[in-house]
Amino acid sequence: MNKHDWSPKKYFILTYGCQMNVFDSEVLSGILEAMGYSPANSEEDTDVLLINTCAVRQKAEEKVLSKLGRLRSIKKKNPEMLLVIWGCMVQQKDLAEQISSRYKYIDLIGGPHALERFPQLLEKARTSSKTVIDINDEGERDHLHIKRGHDFKAWVPISHGCSNYCTYCIVPYVRGPERSRPPERIIQEVKELAKNGYKEITLLGQNVNSYGKDIKGGLDFADLLQRLDAIEGLARIRYMTSHPRDFNDKIIRTIEKGRKICEHFHLPVQSGSNKILKLMNRGYTREYYLELINKIKSRVEHCSITSDIIIGFPGEEDADYQDTLDLIQKVQFDAAYVFIYSPRKGTKATAMADQVDLEIKKERIKKLNKIQGKISLDKNRQLLGTKQEILVEERSKTNPDMITGRTRTNKIVHFSSEENLLGKLIDVEIIEAKSWTLTGKYLP
Ligand code: SAH
Ligand code: SF4
Ligand code: F3S
Repeated sequence: MNKHDWSPKKYFILTYGCQMNVFDSEVLSGILEAMGYSPANSEEDTDVLLINTCAVRQKAEEKVLSKLGRLRSIKKKNPEMLLVIWGCMVQQKDLAEQISSRYKYIDLIGGPHALERFPQLLEKARTSSKTVIDINDEGERDHLHIKRGHDFKAWVPISHGCSNYCTYCIVPYVRGPERSRPPERIIQEVKELAKNGYKEITLLGQNVNSYGKDIKGGLDFADLLQRLDAIEGLARIRYMTSHPRDFNDKIIRTIEKGRKICEHFHLPVQSGSNKILKLMNRGYTREYYLELINKIKSRVEHCSITSDIIIGFPGEEDADYQDTLDLIQKVQFDAAYVFIYSPRKGTKATAMADQVDLEIKKERIKKLNKIQGKISLDKNRQLLGTKQEILVEERSKTNPDMITGRTRTNKIVHFSSEENLLGKLIDVEIIEAKSWTLTGKYLP
């Protein structure tokens, strides 16, 4: 081959959904690069276009479907390009079938368990006239290549899947039951990352604090945190998501004593009503939750607490909604991510009576967001004038003078500097507070 004709094959990945999906895209990138591909600059000019999908709410699926329609023209212009639809959405058998029969130009459909089989699947798709589908629900996920998105912070999965079966949630069906990774492997991986200069790791799992329950004689989540806290070179340890039910005293004590474990607690409450919590199969009451929050606040100074809330779960009456409003006032979350309940096929809640009217859901979410916005602003204003350590994460794309970083409590801080501070831990003074972001002054 003439050297000058040679151009490497390119890939482009679009990712929807949670951090676990972002991580899976890093694995898919790693595998593609090991196969000789390199990153493309745009989805119009690539040899492989992969869409990594999410199924958690209908909106997430709609986004992918409308994208698929628009891809028809790209595929027409570039028929050699391999189009891959991956992830949670297509792990649902009926959807995989629907998509493959409606969008015949898709080359490969693969669920999250098919990661290790990806190279063979892609090669098969190249020569097959039909869409290749792999939604087998088993597959080894360790020991695969990873192309990290950053060189100072990294995702580290500690478990895959979920066995909680909250009645609204599709995740256990598409990601399978909870499987913890062996602790030695996690510790080894974090040691390597620290040795390579990484400052921050985020432990990933659908329910990190039930870590280890499925492996005999292993460590529990608190033990694991303790071991990771001792690793030299690392500055910050984050984890997500934790389930309030399993957030025990041992974990709180470990965080209190730890030096690197960040003072940020993301504890999705979902609802403030005992009736709804029970219907959701969450395994705790509002009283338990409020006591847990008080315990955390009294033991971990200057911590931040965030949450997820679902509005309009079946059977949610005004009194239940008021209980949720009352709970957010009592807790004073730093931030809350509020979702309108979205019925998911095959989950228990979809079949429940008393589905809430969409208009009522919209009204309730609007009011709740407004109240939470005020609380968030209040909490952020308390930081005015304080000095905060931030890890610098990126330069703004729209304003090259501005840089963004995060505090240990996971608050986003914008500040201006021309220095190259990416990946560094620096101090800023907080000079402006909004509901979602802070502005700081760099203190060199
Ligand atoms: N395992 C994590 C994350 C699950 S998905 C956890 O348990 O917290 C992230 C959030 O999406 C959930 O916390 C919940 O608030 C929301 N969610 C999940 N299923 C939903 C549904 N069917 N409709 C609306 N929101 C949903
Ligand atoms: Fe879904 Fe509940 Fe598992 Fe979270 S804990 S992934 S909400 S089933
Ligand atoms: Fe979505 Fe799958 Fe994550 S359903 S939220 S991408 S685990």
